Amino acid sequence: MSDRKIYVQTFGCQMNVHDSEQMIELLKGHGYQPTREPKRADLIIVNTCSIREKADQKAYSQLGRYRGLKRKKPGLILGVSGCLAQQLGGEFFKKIPHLDFVLGTHNIHRLPSVLETVERTGSPLVETAFHETVPSTGIVTIPEKGTVTAFVTIMQGCNNFCAFCVVPYLRGVEESRKFGDIVAEVRMLASSGAKEVTLLGQNVNSYGKTLGDGHNFALLLKAIGEVHGIGRIRFTTSHPRDLTEDIIRCFAEVEKVCEHIHLPVQSGSDRILKRMNRYYTREDYLAKVEKLREVCPDISITSDMIVGFPGETEADFRATLDLMEKIRFDGLFSFKYSERPGTAASRLDGKVPMEEKGRRLRELQALQEKHTLQKNLACVGRKEEVLVEGYSKQNRREFMGRTRNNRIVNFGSRENCLGRTVSVHISAAYQHSLRGELEPL
Ligand code: SAH
Ligand code: SF4
Ligand code: F3S
Repeated sequence: MSDRKIYVQTFGCQMNVHDSEQMIELLKGHGYQPTREPKRADLIIVNTCSIREKADQKAYSQLGRYRGLKRKKPGLILGVSGCLAQQLGGEFFKKIPHLDFVLGTHNIHRLPSVLETVERTGSPLVETAFHETVPSTGIVTIPEKGTVTAFVTIMQGCNNFCAFCVVPYLRGVEESRKFGDIVAEVRMLASSGAKEVTLLGQNVNSYGKTLGDGHNFALLLKAIGEVHGIGRIRFTTSHPRDLTEDIIRCFAEVEKVCEHIHLPVQSGSDRILKRMNRYYTREDYLAKVEKLREVCPDISITSDMIVGFPGETEADFRATLDLMEKIRFDGLFSFKYSERPGTAASRLDGKVPMEEKGRRLRELQALQEKHTLQKNLACVGRKEEVLVEGYSKQNRREFMGRTRNNRIVNFGSRENCLGRTVSVHISAAYQHSLRGELEPL
């Protein structure tokens, strides 16, 4: 049982990426080693997402492809985890009969025992119970050699119930991890070589609410800011309603907090924001952006936007474009509204036809592309601090890193820069990245 190989395929958000890391870490203690090739694996886990219908389809088609592998290698164990697994539970076997187990979002810690049972009995297994405290959050994933960025979960679940969103049903109620546990985890990561941590939660701005001991997100940022060895702190996702002045001030007061915030707005129309249960208005959002820019003039602001939410009129959509013109986001993830089972929005009237959603999305994305390029071009001529994460995708002989405001930079260097923080003079800007020359080391 010592040289078994595990292959995990991940869909969805960073939380899922971190869950996959945790599953691998856990199984390392049970004789498994990760592989990058599904063909060589003894265990394949598809870690699923269910945020939009397309995400579901990706998981099904991937699982369909693994059927052939399973025929060739009868001992191969195939499991699903993540949000779609949580949603479907045992129903999954009806859609994918060759599946061995279904592991819900709160049950990562059960993986070794699930595998043991599947191997012993050969019968399919489902573990999707919700736990009050999610036991797997304590699994620390030490970055691999050469990797300097790490994820840290600071809270589980979500209590917001935005009308369109399925996450609260699949990840359970909001629960913050203990302050001291998080700081201890960051220390441990720093001592194993991490230089940047990304704090994860569906709504990190409300960190501490469920603790009731006075701790909050701003205090957490300050405490992590004191950890020796960590040079950069990032976090995702921020809910505009819970973004306090205290947190905003951290962008200026805590040197290590990077000058970037992902602050999903979803719509620029008050009527739609209300129907979405977002609990802020467009004016509230604009005021927070203004404050952020006042405290931290260089801050890069990215967001999420949904078009075609039920009841969205052409005027509502125009209000969204107008908000984009006013703010000029550095980057934007935009989506066609996708109806999710069980959500409040699935019961709303005023469905927007698919072609119309497509038209709106194209118009919105064209506008954003213009803004993104303009913002990237404005970086040309600047000297940027870049943390080198790996090699450039286009040219494996070049390095790739990120600026503090989260832009990708590619540059050449004769010396090995992996994992180092370097200074790069930006010489060109494109839609998705920057190019630069390394300043003398
Ligand atoms: N917790 C985060 C993000 C969760 S999901 C937050 O509060 O913003 C990431 C993004 O997916 C959301 O911001 C939203 O823009 C999009 N999304 C969620 N549900 C969706 C749906 N049903 N249809 C289309 N987009 C959706
Ligand atoms: Fe979903 Fe809203 Fe919670 Fe984000 S805050 S996970 S969009 S319910
Ligand atoms: Fe998807 Fe679940 Fe994340 S639905 S976006 S994997 S929380």
